[in-house]
Amino acid sequence: MSRTSIVAGNWKMNLDRGAAEALTKAVAAGRDQAGDVDVVLCPPSIYIGTVGTALSATSGGSPSGVGLGAQNMSEQASGAYTGEISAGMLVDMCCGYVILGHSERRTLMGETDELVAAKVKAALTAGLTPIVCVGEQLAEREADRTHEVVSTQVRGSLAGLSADELAKVVVAYEPVWAIGTGKVATPEQAQDVHALIRSLLTEMASPEVADGIRIQYGGSVKAGNAADLAAQPDIDGALVGGASLEAEGFLAIAAAFR
Ligand code: PGA
Repeated sequence: MSRTSIVAGNWKMNLDRGAAEALTKAVAAGRDQAGDVDVVLCPPSIYIGTVGTALSATSGGSPSGVGLGAQNMSEQASGAYTGEISAGMLVDMCCGYVILGHSERRTLMGETDELVAAKVKAALTAGLTPIVCVGEQLAEREADRTHEVVSTQVRGSLAGLSADELAKVVVAYEPVWAIGTGKVATPEQAQDVHALIRSLLTEMASPEVADGIRIQYGGSVKAGNAADLAAQPDIDGALVGGASLEAEGFLAIAAAFR
């Protein structure tokens, strides 16, 4: 099956409102160079409205051809959860995607596979496409535990989903040692784990469903290394942090996945 690649910019806690708007407009203006690749922007939550307006996004999509996503959300639907944002609110603000279980949330905010799984379920119920992040720490790779750690995260973070639900998920493999460090995994290292993830999805759903699921690579992806990653059979896009804060480089990465 030919999968439509997906390249998402994770802006993390960067930019101000004016810079977010300017970057959005620059990405929308150059979006065509990415062809039929799905291009998604994930701004800080407080700027989702600003970015959505700049994209002219509606609940039915975005005429700019650039999707809108959040970086996190609550697993709860509504209620007394001060500071939290629900999946329904993200849909209301025209988001189509949400990053869940990013390693910064796992390590800095203590998010567990169980919590991530609850968020994934809530996102799917609301009609969002979850981008579910997994990846090993440096010490785990050095101890030759990468497959074990990633397997546990994939099974745990996607627990309780039907095959139909799994078909709607995007998985992002982000080795923690490669995030923001400039140390990108080699294409072979990345492909090895992507193939593992697809085999896990085959067991959890079916070969047909696993074949259709997009698996992104993340961790120091840049315009200069994207083509080698894109050439791997099981790498279907990228989750881009630092390099997504500048339109030209981000769009060059997206274009590499055409
Ligand atoms: P990076 O971040 O591209 O800056 O390494 C990737 C991510 O954390 O999603």
